[in-house]
Parts: sequence; C-alpha cells; structure tokens
Amino acid sequence: MCIQIRKGHNVDDLHGIMCVDTAGAHRPWTEDEFKHRLDYSRKENSKKMLLVATDAADKGKVVGFLIFRIHEDQVLLNRLVVTPERRLEGIGTRLLSRVTGKIFADDHARMVARVRLRNIGALEFLCARGFKTCGVMHNHYEDNDDAIKLAYDFPLRPLTDDPINLEAA
Ligand SMILES: CC(C)(COP(=O)(O)OP(=O)(O)OC[C@H]1O[C@@H](n2cnc3c(N)ncnc32)[C@H](O)[C@@H]1OP(=O)(O)O)[C@@H](O)C(=O)NCCC(=O)NCCS
Repeated sequence: MCIQIRKGHNVDDLHGIMCVDTAGAHRPWTEDEFKHRLDYSRKENSKKMLLVATDAADKGKVVGFLIFRIHEDQVLLNRLVVTPERRLEGIGTRLLSRVTGKIFADDHARMVARVRLRNIGALEFLCARGFKTCGVMHNHYEDNDDAIKLAYDFPLRPLTDDPINLEAA
C-alpha cells in the first residue's frame, strides 16, 4: 500500500474528493456544498482544513479525505470519507491521526464529531479511536435522522524540557 496523506487543495482536489464522497458518503455533498464549505476566503472565526489520502500506486488517486474546522476552543470533524473499496486498510485512521496527533489540550480542548445514529461503522470507528459519545441531536439531518455527538479530548502536550531527570533519580 502506497498511501500518502497530504494537505488538500480546495480546487485541484475537488474532483477527487467528490468522487470519494459520491461513492462513500451516506448523503453526498453537491459541488456547491463542497465549494461553500471549502471556501477559505469566507471571513469566519474558524479555520478550515482539508487533508487527502492518495494512492501513489494508482497515479496519486484520492482514496479518502477529511475536512475539519478549527474553532477557538474546539476542532470540528466536518467530513471523513474513505472510498468503499479501500476501507479497513487503516486509511481513515491515518487521516484522523494527522489531526489528533498534532493538536494538544493546551491549544484546543477537544475535537467534536456528529454521526448518524444508524451509522454503526462510523460510530465503531470513532469510539475505537478514543471518541466518547456525549449526546443525541434529534432530527439533526434534513431527512430527520438523529445524530450522535462524540468528543475526543486532546492529550496534554508532551514535556520537551523535563525538569525531573528520571535517569538520575
Ligand atoms: C468510517 C470510515 C471513515 C472508516 O475508514 P476506514 O479507512 O475503513 O477505517 P480504518 O481502516 O482506519 O479503521 C477501521 C476500524 O474502524 C472500524 N470500522 C470501520 N468501518 C466499520 C464498519 N462498517 N463496521 C464496524 N467497524 C468498522 C473497525 O473497528 C476497524 O477497527 P480495527 O482497525 O481495530 O479493526 C469509513 O468507513 C467511511 O468512509 N464511512 C462512510 C463515511 C462516514 O460514515 N463518515 C463518518 C466518519 S466520522
């Protein structure tokens, strides 16, 4: 497997992420929805980020992506989709760990996600990766499906300058 994770480009990668979304999302976004959500020029109190997983053995084809939004106090997992034929290969985990491995509790308290109540696969995936369920949002989706709210608490930043020398103790 030659999967690479890189920062996505909201124009150049649009076609690739839309193909993944159409094939794998429960309710795929339209092109306008993607453009709206990835419009970095919108003046908002949050920063949007796109990560893509590409397969170097398949001409750099996009096989998964993650969109998240950094707010002042928390990070919102907006969208995470892996193309169906490449699931259970660890791609979703690698995309997610790019975020959970880089952000620490002293910058942002937690990462939150919303998942359809009946999306058992995604719930199992997130819970196995340290997310905890923290509420239900009834009729959250436009088709009246309920959402489960989940949160992941970021770890404390590792000490780079350890004042206690354990070797010497
Ligand atoms: C959820 C999703 C992103 C996982 O991506 P993935 O690349 O298959 O995930 P990984 O291979 O990294 O991890 C697989 C793990 O997730 C769990 N998992 C994933 N899909 C599952 C399913 N359908 N049923 C049960 N468990 C599932 C497994 O427990 C597995 O754990 P293990 O590695 O300990 O065996 C992918 O299934 C997907 O795109 N789903 C549709 C979109 C979606 O629902 N997105 C919401 C995500 S927040």
